[in-house]
Amino acid sequence: MAIEDETWMNYAITDKEFQCFSNLIYQQSGIALSGGKKALLVSRLSRRLSELGLKTFHAYYERVVGEHSDGEFTHMLDLISTNKTDFFREPRHFEFLRNQILPELQHIKKIRIWSAGCSSGEEPYTIAITMHDALISPSQWDCKILASDISTRVLAKAASGIYDLERVRDLPGEVIRRHFIREKGERLDTIRVKPHISDMVVFRRINLMDERYPIKSRLDVIFCRNVMIYFDRTVQERLLSKFHRYLKPGGYLFIGHSETLQLGQQHQFYYVEPTIYRKEP
Ligand SMILES: C[S@@+](CC[C@H](N)C(=O)[O-])C[C@H]1O[C@@H](n2cnc3c(N)ncnc32)[C@H](O)[C@@H]1O
Repeated sequence: MAIEDETWMNYAITDKEFQCFSNLIYQQSGIALSGGKKALLVSRLSRRLSELGLKTFHAYYERVVGEHSDGEFTHMLDLISTNKTDFFREPRHFEFLRNQILPELQHIKKIRIWSAGCSSGEEPYTIAITMHDALISPSQWDCKILASDISTRVLAKAASGIYDLERVRDLPGEVIRRHFIREKGERLDTIRVKPHISDMVVFRRINLMDERYPIKSRLDVIFCRNVMIYFDRTVQERLLSKFHRYLKPGGYLFIGHSETLQLGQQHQFYYVEPTIYRKEP
């Protein structure tokens, strides 16, 4: 996501105003903004203040928390969250899913996966492509992928299943041919995920900070990659305990490669290999 627009004039923010925003963002989304993130907050929100005709961050804060905020908090989160993602990002997880997890479930032919913090959808579609290509008769399996994010903007993009051609440039031609279709008409530089893949994925807005999630049956795998990195230890621990609750016994948790469940961190998972954890079978 582009962070700065150089032609834009940044507004000034006081320490107190910054503190109010960082407290609110932390309480509502778990995202911890340290003092060093002041410039980032200003650069991402200044344009919005101007669009709304507001003169100060104080006035914007009032707007965000006010009775008539009209979803302004969600809009603000859209502007400050980092949504970087890719198809087949961190490929080891998809290899593990194909070679380890699917054979374990072969006898029941049923799998439930959650991509938590899915951003614009590349991660859940990669999971669907991996499963589709790994299964001998995909139609005989009951596969469901729940993909969620806090940001409505990235979720809308994800649900459309439409991407710039550039985004799939590094995928093998054969994968593109099987699972994507070129958009017809004016948008020749875009490509769309085919229905046999998109039908496997359901998108929902879920805030990971919520105490309960709208998930009925327990999960075999949770992908929560490159999300916890924005949370502090307290929020991470709370989240890990909720993930543990929502997984089936023997279920797996995948985290991002720059993240680790640290020594001394409270969690109930056991280590399988770097970035892959498991609930006791
Ligand atoms: C860097 S992206 C990771 C995308 C994908 N999982 C991957 O690894 O490629 C982080 C995502 O986490 C989402 N996120 C941040 N805080 C969240 C929260 N409290 N609840 C749900 N999603 C959140 C952001 O909106 C963003 O789309």
